[in-house]
Amino acid sequence: MSSGQPAMPPAVAIHGIGAHSGQSVRIHGWLYNLRESGKLLFPIFRDGTGLIQGVLFKKNVPPELFERVRTLTQESSVEVTGTVRAEARAVGGYELDVTDLRVLQAVPLEHPYPITPKEHGIEFLMEHRHLWLRSQRQAAILRVRHEVIKAVRDFFDEDGFTLADAPILTPAACEGTSNLFEVDYFEEKAYLTQSGQLYAEAAAMAVGKTYCFGPTFRAEKSKTRRHLTEFWMVEPEMAFAGLDDVMQLAERLVAYVVERVLTRRAAELKVLERDIEPLRKIKLPFPRLSYDEAVERVRAAGGTLQWGTDLGGTDETLLSQQFDRPVMVHRYPASVKAFYMQPDPVRPELALCVDMLAPEGYGEIIGGSQRIHDLELLQQRIAEHKLPEQAFSWYVDLRRFGSVPHGGFGMGIERVVAWLCGVEHVRETIPFPRTIYRIFP
Ligand code: 4AD
Ligand code: MG
Repeated sequence: MSSGQPAMPPAVAIHGIGAHSGQSVRIHGWLYNLRESGKLLFPIFRDGTGLIQGVLFKKNVPPELFERVRTLTQESSVEVTGTVRAEARAVGGYELDVTDLRVLQAVPLEHPYPITPKEHGIEFLMEHRHLWLRSQRQAAILRVRHEVIKAVRDFFDEDGFTLADAPILTPAACEGTSNLFEVDYFEEKAYLTQSGQLYAEAAAMAVGKTYCFGPTFRAEKSKTRRHLTEFWMVEPEMAFAGLDDVMQLAERLVAYVVERVLTRRAAELKVLERDIEPLRKIKLPFPRLSYDEAVERVRAAGGTLQWGTDLGGTDETLLSQQFDRPVMVHRYPASVKAFYMQPDPVRPELALCVDMLAPEGYGEIIGGSQRIHDLELLQQRIAEHKLPEQAFSWYVDLRRFGSVPHGGFGMGIERVVAWLCGVEHVRETIPFPRTIYRIFP
């Protein structure tokens, strides 16, 4: 049925607009920037998929259209109609000869968009995180994060792992009692989960290979560039697995994720000005280093690390700088690690655990271990750590009904994204970061 009206030009996304070269199209987006040069206007539009520069020549367009565009304010939402033209020098390789523009919402002149192209301080940007996300850089980080998460899921799904979500409200601690968020749970107290691991162990006994992937919480008082109070962690767990299996899985996962981001997110890494040469060197196998060797290396490099203490951020940096790939440090003293770790049969004062340290000073991205599978030993450790017996009774039960050697690890998504994007601080790698000083917006 024809209305007699000319058909509306098709609505298209800026990314892929090249397929419509020479045609009239509509785009839906926001005014990103506007430049005026005599009788010419150069509005730049963004639509979430890309940027395109529009062109209006005063004598070629109706005066009221020219005026509408000339007075357009930054981040006003618009529907733009125009003809696509290849232009090698333009962002994205195309320009739009604007023939019409409809303003959907005009940002008022007296209350302009707060984030201008000039430099802003980090506190100001964090306070406006809900708007800051629109910047090219932040949008690129969001897309890399998306790719990392998708790659992680694909990796485990293709490798025979079954996703089993862990609860967020939990009756007990997993990673030490000093950084728990306590919440009222009706008549009881509950805690926001620090890790889904204990539940993943139960699921592994059901399906063999499992993973959980969700938000985890730590009341971290530390104000470092690597710590958030709410972060996302993926945690695989395998029945009938030892520390070597855990390390092999960890290195395969990381190599897979790096490769995926390099192949699918090259454009985003370019926006971020990330030097990709170091990332290209991330190939299997990754070096393995015992804790003993790590202490020696740190000290030889000028660090003050004492045998028997955990590696600090500086120690991790001193160590990871010595390798062009992530390095896996294994067999830490059991005393600095979690209660559930299996002791080394040769030297029981050591835990069968591993931390993976990313290169370029990004520090620990993975922590994992083989778990205690012996009933008495686990009960003893729970008592030594003064953990509430009742809250852990179900976890102990797993050692009563067909206990088997098993293990797994946790990988923090934000730390991986920070490393791959080459951003200094993890606060830029999650849409709305939570830190000791920030729960807004
Ligand atoms: O080393 P973590 O504490 O290990 C666990 O939670 C184990 N239960 C995991 C397991 O074996 N299933 O944490 C694992 C990873 C760290 O290597 C780091 O990447 C990330 O989680 N992480 C944090 N990321 C951001 N902010 C924090 N406060 C983090 N704490 C840990
Ligand atoms: Mg750790």
